[in-house]
Amino acid sequence: MSASEIVVEAGANIAFIKYWGNRGSDLNLPLNPSISMTLDECRTRTRVTVLPDADADEFVLGGERPSNKSVQRLESFLRHVREISGRREPLRIESENAFPTGCGIASSASGFAALALAASTAYGLEWSRRELSRLARRGSGSAARSIFGGFVELRKGDTDEDAFAEQLADEAHWPELRDVVAVVADGEKAVSSAEGHRLAVQSEMMAGRLEAVPERARRVREAIRRRDLAMLGEASEADAVSMHAVMMTSKPPLFYWTSDTLTAINAVREMRHEGIEAWFTIDAGPNVHVLTLESHRPEVERRLRDLGWRVISDGVGGGARVVQGGAS
Ligand code: PMV
Repeated sequence: MSASEIVVEAGANIAFIKYWGNRGSDLNLPLNPSISMTLDECRTRTRVTVLPDADADEFVLGGERPSNKSVQRLESFLRHVREISGRREPLRIESENAFPTGCGIASSASGFAALALAASTAYGLEWSRRELSRLARRGSGSAARSIFGGFVELRKGDTDEDAFAEQLADEAHWPELRDVVAVVADGEKAVSSAEGHRLAVQSEMMAGRLEAVPERARRVREAIRRRDLAMLGEASEADAVSMHAVMMTSKPPLFYWTSDTLTAINAVREMRHEGIEAWFTIDAGPNVHVLTLESHRPEVERRLRDLGWRVISDGVGGGARVVQGGAS
């Protein structure tokens, strides 16, 4: 491997307090703080090669050339890294997800966290985690959190300088916690989260959500500190429903839930009724993430599979890291 070739890995994340709604610029400045856990096995691996003799960047995502829209988003991200670094050489970006894209686990979070670390390292920038988090946020708000491992909060932030993520607790803090995803549909979502963030501000429910989030975020921080799944689960369910209420009342309305989503929600409630510690959360799609403990994982998986769905389970993982190269 040449010195100008870097390989980086970053985990996806699942939010307990969701980021939904931003100030409408390329900066992705979130309207509310969000809190997540970084996932361990659901990772993106990105190789970046500096191409001194090439005319343009090259992109290969999951073995294929990405759509023109994705290329535009990647180019605008790289333009910013080049402005800061003063470097001009094009890059070749090759990226693979260790999980199916569009499976209910956000690949933009791990993808842009990996790219932020890989591109900045390839251009010789020695950035702090905070700076990397701010950079990753420009690609995708949730990516700002995936720079860190464990339990992570992305601050609300009024400007580019103060909207960055911070670690609340590392990955060793709560090793029993699990995210079991019922993949009720695996197609690409019809409306991107970028579009959803813009529409959110028009929802009549948004003001109520923004008022409720600080207290819910306080409970989530406390639940993480105490490793209290019931407290974490209650707040996470409330926050997911609040976000989807905003989505459903945006103009035009966004309905990410399907009848299977409701079936899965009811299955989780039924499990709880029977003494299985399980709570749901749902991102910008129909799939249902079940927060549980390793001791309950096999039973939760079995019940979701019995309903006919594919299941992906993961735990708490570390932050974005360089796995090969790095001396540019
Ligand atoms: O990072 P984005 O723009 O894909 O937005 C993330 C949106 C949610 O996944 C629904 C919530 C979150 O905080 O991860």
